[in-house]
Amino acid sequence: MRRIAVVTGANQGIGFALVEGLAARMNPEDLVLLTSRDPGRVAEAAARAKGVAQIEGRVLDVSDDDAIAQLAAGLQAEYGGVDIVISNAIAPLTPDRTQAEQADQFIAVANGGTESVLRAFAPVLRPGGRLLVVASSLGTLDQLDPKLHPLFDGRSFDEIVQTVEDWRQAIHAGTAADQGWPEWINTPSKVGQVAAVRALAAERRAADLPQNKLIASICPGLVDTRASRPWFDDFSQARTPAEAAEPIVDLVLADLDPSQYGELVRDGKVLPWRGAAA
Ligand SMILES: NC(=O)c1ccc[n+]([C@@H]2O[C@H](COP(=O)([O-])OP(=O)(O)OC[C@H]3O[C@@H](n4cnc5c(N)ncnc54)[C@H](OP(=O)(O)O)[C@@H]3O)[C@@H](O)[C@H]2O)c1
Repeated sequence: MRRIAVVTGANQGIGFALVEGLAARMNPEDLVLLTSRDPGRVAEAAARAKGVAQIEGRVLDVSDDDAIAQLAAGLQAEYGGVDIVISNAIAPLTPDRTQAEQADQFIAVANGGTESVLRAFAPVLRPGGRLLVVASSLGTLDQLDPKLHPLFDGRSFDEIVQTVEDWRQAIHAGTAADQGWPEWINTPSKVGQVAAVRALAAERRAADLPQNKLIASICPGLVDTRASRPWFDDFSQARTPAEAAEPIVDLVLADLDPSQYGELVRDGKVLPWRGAAA
């Protein structure tokens, strides 16, 4: 059977490496959709991406909930579903403007995009499917002030979506710091991604595991990309995007390990939700 893969935010960085990593290890009849927001950059990246499987560029702005739903429905109609989906897109966050000024776009892409991908693609995932979110080790609960933990812990998917929206509004109201939110917006954003994956997995676990499906979030480690470059001086320990993509592609193509279902996984190992110390 022809397998279909979708990667978001894939014209550069880890997403591009995931497309090439998947396409290198899938079959010639399989299809990897390299998606991102800008038509020119998508076309350029799809033209230079190499692999055994077919690679096709598709414009997909993940802050557009309807566009994500349409892509999922279109793939369902055309191919009967999807086998591999990796939600990876992230908007640039730069030191030259305040985090508050950049919060709307950042949260719309990282959290809104992830929530829309999870919502639209989980129902069209074929048996054996993999639905992964590229998050971070910043996504464990212990990264946040303990008073915020109940907002993310054991909550439903809709409650997580609402918590992220409440946080965004608190940033604009100037009340986020008083409520315990850190200034560095990537941290609550990553906790929100991991919590959304956990909430969806809690709903779907009983149906997914017998069908050999995996929903999980991923930590790629520190990777030398456009997203990380403005924030770190020393990249001597950083991975290249291709190095970071390898264990993620391993996870996609490996036999299902039920202990990874719904969890945050780094290099094949589960990172505890409440943090290593807990
Ligand atoms: N780099 C690291 O050290 C590191 C560490 C931990 C986790 N991560 C995570 O890994 C993932 C990928 O990060 P990266 O470092 O590869 O970032 P990156 O190099 O900045 O690439 C981000 C990609 O997302 C795309 N994008 C931005 N806005 C979009 C939108 N509205 N719709 C669709 N695509 C959009 C970008 O397209 P344009 O080219 O058009 O902007 C680009 O292709 C992120 O979730 C990030 O948080 C990275």
